[in-house]
Amino acid sequence: MRMLVTGGAGFIGANFVHRTLATRPDARITVLDALTYAGTRASLAPVADRITFVHGDICDADLVNRLVAETDLVVHFAAESHNDNSLADPWPFVRTNVVGTTTLLQAVRTHDVRYHHISTDEVYGDLELDDPARFTETTPYNPSSPYSSTKASSDLLVRAWARSFGIRATISNCSNNYGPYQHVEKFIPRQITNVLTGVRPRLYGTGANVRDWIHVDDHNDAVWTIVERGELGQTYLIGADGEANNRTVVETILELCGKDPNDFDFVTDRPGHDLRYAIDSTRLRTELGWTPTYSDFRAGLTATIDWYRTNENWWRPQKDATEAVYAGTERVTGAGSRH
Ligand code: NAD
Ligand code: TYD
Repeated sequence: MRMLVTGGAGFIGANFVHRTLATRPDARITVLDALTYAGTRASLAPVADRITFVHGDICDADLVNRLVAETDLVVHFAAESHNDNSLADPWPFVRTNVVGTTTLLQAVRTHDVRYHHISTDEVYGDLELDDPARFTETTPYNPSSPYSSTKASSDLLVRAWARSFGIRATISNCSNNYGPYQHVEKFIPRQITNVLTGVRPRLYGTGANVRDWIHVDDHNDAVWTIVERGELGQTYLIGADGEANNRTVVETILELCGKDPNDFDFVTDRPGHDLRYAIDSTRLRTELGWTPTYSDFRAGLTATIDWYRTNENWWRPQKDATEAVYAGTERVTGAGSRH
């Protein structure tokens, strides 16, 4: 099968390429990636001779049309993906997530190519900490940030193109991913690389916000399940029952690195910070038979810490620039203490 993977030099896309070549050695993969600050060819170096890499923009209609004409499947990961950046400057989010997705949709419509759209649970907004409900495929959209609202827009565009033009599309909305090759701006790699460089981890607000963590390989296995067995026109939620609050995650990282679990700082909260995400992935499990393999978050975190420990060459070039951006807005408000 010939496939076009957009955003394949980013975190989840690169892991998808590695996973696909490991499980489907005959796949013929073309990666289209603009190599923004978030993408690096280093994430594809181990498989560089097994893929075709195109350095380009998903908003470039001529390029996208040419690449889509030559493929059987598009898996669309490319996005501006970080909430904090979307608060500082929303325009790249509107451009890539909305205009870029529309550009791809027009091309798959023209060439009648199967399309899978990667999205996030953040389109549903947030939940109270004590709410027994979790997000399902029928939860109303209620995004909070420029990032999540542009992802919600892109999902709605896919639904409209499926209904109005009959494109062969599926959508998945996944919870927070962790694993190798994640940019150090994101929560878990930021804290791991802080600890590895002797800097105290930093918790926004009180650290009570909850995220529903899933290993990136489980996410990508679920994507393949949907591509192969999903019903066209449908949405599937992907989650691995991995709810944890941010403070617990930081304490666990510190403990797994052999440090005092109280050795962290609180910093100013993110404006509009979503309180809790939680996914009910019953549909994916019962209708398509998917189950996650990384059921132990602690074990997954240990493996991820090991990866960052042994791959400093990969993350070191990003670290100082990333921390310089955070230093512009972040202020320490308190220190961790025994509780
Ligand atoms: P990432 O920021 O690590 O990677 C994004 C990639 O897209 C980068 O390689 C970047 O260079 C590329 N890109 C950006 N703009 C582009 C453009 N205009 N043209 C071509 N390439 C461009 O993101 P990620 O965390 O790997 O997320 C991938 C997808 O998964 C996104 O659609 C995101 O919304 C979704 N998602 C992420 C998570 C998560 O926890 N990270 C969870 C659920 C869904
Ligand atoms: P993040 O990785 O940015 O993902 P998202 O905003 O898409 O959930 O952040 C995960 C959680 O961690 C979120 O509640 C914000 C919080 N956070 C911190 O407490 N400290 C940090 O340094 C960062 C980057 C995030």
